[in-house]
Amino acid sequence: MNAHDRIVQFLKEADGYVSGEEMSETLKISRAAVWKYIDHLRKDGYGITAVPHLGYRLVSVPDKLLPHEIQSGLNTRTFGKNIVAFNTVGSTMDEAFRLGMEGAPEGTLVCAETQHKGRGRLGRVWSSPRAKGIYCSLILRPRLPPGQLARLTLTAAVALAEALRDAAGIEPAIKWPNDILVGGKKLAGILTELRAEADQVKFVVVGMGINVNTSASQLVDGAASLRTETGRIFNRVVVLRHILRSFESWYAVLGTRGRFDPVMKAWKARSATLKKRVRVTGPGGMVEGLAVDLDTDGALLVRQDSGVIVKQTAGDVVHG
Ligand code: BTN
Repeated sequence: MNAHDRIVQFLKEADGYVSGEEMSETLKISRAAVWKYIDHLRKDGYGITAVPHLGYRLVSVPDKLLPHEIQSGLNTRTFGKNIVAFNTVGSTMDEAFRLGMEGAPEGTLVCAETQHKGRGRLGRVWSSPRAKGIYCSLILRPRLPPGQLARLTLTAAVALAEALRDAAGIEPAIKWPNDILVGGKKLAGILTELRAEADQVKFVVVGMGINVNTSASQLVDGAASLRTETGRIFNRVVVLRHILRSFESWYAVLGTRGRFDPVMKAWKARSATLKKRVRVTGPGGMVEGLAVDLDTDGALLVRQDSGVIVKQTAGDVVHG
């Protein structure tokens, strides 16, 4: 842990005021350095009061996705061990790709308070109001052929749905392939992009956008947030920790050879799409019928009125 993080920890664990002298002695840094770190922390938004002869006291922690806040008590093995946090960014996807190309390790998380070019599936825009949602991308290096990437996407959907259940006490549904819905409205979305060479996945970037404290007026039509759904305000750091833990454990299930079954089972149990009449617009055009099942590669099987079953590997679903 670096001196900055140790000062935060010191202040958090302190019962009241801690003197600059005590911190300087324990952390083996000069009084001037302590002051400099306190100044940095205040600029990061920490509320720290200073009283002559008594010292410093932490009165508030900022509502920001700061790496050391996310990592405190996280207990994951790789997910979120390396975090790159931005205040403002074009898209966390682009930053994650850049880092992935530079060899960033599996589990590296890129997050931002806001994105001005946030993107969704099929070229859509992902609205990212500052400090209201979680906008992040995770770098993964799975041993999967590119053709099986849909499995990872479905795994992410299951993991995210469970994390939001644990964080907010809701039971999200999943619209194929990976929209997270609550009360029929979109709460979160997942975007999977990959870098492959010679039919081998080099790395994958899984982007997640979650509407957390977004108010109704900030949401696009048909969207919901944890706030609009529950009437409560959430600590985004806590929600993000749930996501990292849940995703890491589901990713481990997927990594175990031949263990896509538990993912499929969990996905099907939350599916808002199966057994519904759907219109799927995919690369090969539009298909209409009953969504009968999920194929073992994550594709959607649609039975047309003629009885013919069509397999859709990608696309956009309209229910009903
Ligand atoms: C979708 O439902 O269409 C996917 C939305 C994915 C949005 C996230 S926000 C963080 C990451 N950066 C982006 O530009 N997009 C993803």
